[in-house]
Amino acid sequence: MAKIHDVAVIVGSLRKGSLNRQVANALAELSPATLKLNIIEIGHLPIYNQDGDENPPDAWTEFRDGIKAADAVLFVTPEHNRSIPAALKNALDIGSRPHGKNVWSGKPGAVVSASPGGIGGFGANHHLRQSLVFLNVPAMAQPEAYIGGADKLFDANGKLANDGTRKFLQGFVQAYSVWITANAKS
Ligand code: FNR
Repeated sequence: MAKIHDVAVIVGSLRKGSLNRQVANALAELSPATLKLNIIEIGHLPIYNQDGDENPPDAWTEFRDGIKAADAVLFVTPEHNRSIPAALKNALDIGSRPHGKNVWSGKPGAVVSASPGGIGGFGANHHLRQSLVFLNVPAMAQPEAYIGGADKLFDANGKLANDGTRKFLQGFVQAYSVWITANAKS
């Protein structure tokens, strides 16, 4: 039987009605039986400060442990001013430290960006990929996922209401499952 891989999902938006969270929920529903997607929250994490490395806040330790326990990491993020939101950068930084203890390292990754705008958060998607190279996250190249017009894809209950997007996201998570199997440490 195929191994079931645990995927830590990081949503770059903190707001309750987040379109990106809705995309993440849709991905969880559409994912094959080989993947278990679980959102790891980042909104409560104190801003990273290297002075905290010796005696880290509990929230940093719990977050690092959550990423360590996962087989793979999936990022679903909005674009803020053509880059990634500060909360997401903070989470990346916390997971990357102390020096030599980068919890992201070697976890097969994938990036989805979503925006009401037409270019689907392309700038955030690629800024994030720049950090993932340094963090040693092998990020799936294809299919790329820039979800534009995201404010028109969900119903009032936050459920995906667009067949084309459903098919695309389903293909995306299926490809990601293959990517994880090919790149996972276990
Ligand atoms: C935005 N937004 C935005 N959209 C975009 O396509 N490119 C951008 O550079 C920005 N910049 C930006 C900066 C800040 C500070 C905010 C708050 C918003 C709009 C953004 O895409 C929109 O608010 C999305 O709905 C955010 O995603 P969530 O929160 O719905 O997941």
